[in-house]
Amino acid sequence: MPTGHVYIATSIDGFIARLDGGLDWLESANSAGEDHGYQAFMDRIDGIVMGRATFDVVLRFDPWPYDRPLLVLSRKLDSADIPSHVADWVTIVQSVSDALAEGQRRGWDRVYVDGGATIQAFLDAGAISDMVITRIPVLLGTGLPLFGPLSDDLPLRHVETRSFPSGLVQSRYEVPR
Ligand SMILES: NC(=O)c1ccc[n+]([C@@H]2O[C@H](COP(=O)([O-])OP(=O)(O)OC[C@H]3O[C@@H](n4cnc5c(N)ncnc54)[C@H](OP(=O)(O)O)[C@@H]3O)[C@@H](O)[C@H]2O)c1
Repeated sequence: MPTGHVYIATSIDGFIARLDGGLDWLESANSAGEDHGYQAFMDRIDGIVMGRATFDVVLRFDPWPYDRPLLVLSRKLDSADIPSHVADWVTIVQSVSDALAEGQRRGWDRVYVDGGATIQAFLDAGAISDMVITRIPVLLGTGLPLFGPLSDDLPLRHVETRSFPSGLVQSRYEVPR
């Protein structure tokens, strides 16, 4: 089975978007010119698993921002819902286990797992190996959370933390098996 890897930005109070999905706080983080390691992370990724809500957002990006195949996790969508301009890149999967099985069928070793609910489902399934979490120095008060309920505590191993002149603080954690 492929291993799941997270690379995500949160507010200090742990939100990945405003309640309406707004990312303005992220876009105004004033960190242009800093290398936060996204490309190095992506260079080691074979495919992406993304929640349907995040997919709805990235569909608005022009140009399409990914050069890896994308599995969209959804119980509602089917292949007819995929816009034609991304149809060559995108496949719908209905569960975490279907996503992992599809990744394995394609020979993937490492998948980028994106979207809060999706990351939570992968964590609960024991399918995340490590997480790079970049904290933006802002409190939002409310929003869509990165983390949520789990079946049990999940101890993490801190690997490294680095900070940037903009005030971004990035930590990497491994999820011991
Ligand atoms: N700050 C950042 O770096 C960052 C990164 C990524 C995303 N975001 C933002 O986060 C927001 C979306 O995150 P989110 O937590 O709301 O949602 P999400 O994980 O992107 O998508 C949630 C949807 O994925 C599907 N899903 C999730 N778990 C599932 C499971 N176990 N089985 C089957 N389907 C499952 C469901 O789709 P259906 O309802 O279709 O069944 C669910 O409604 C967006 O606003 C996006 O812009 C921010």
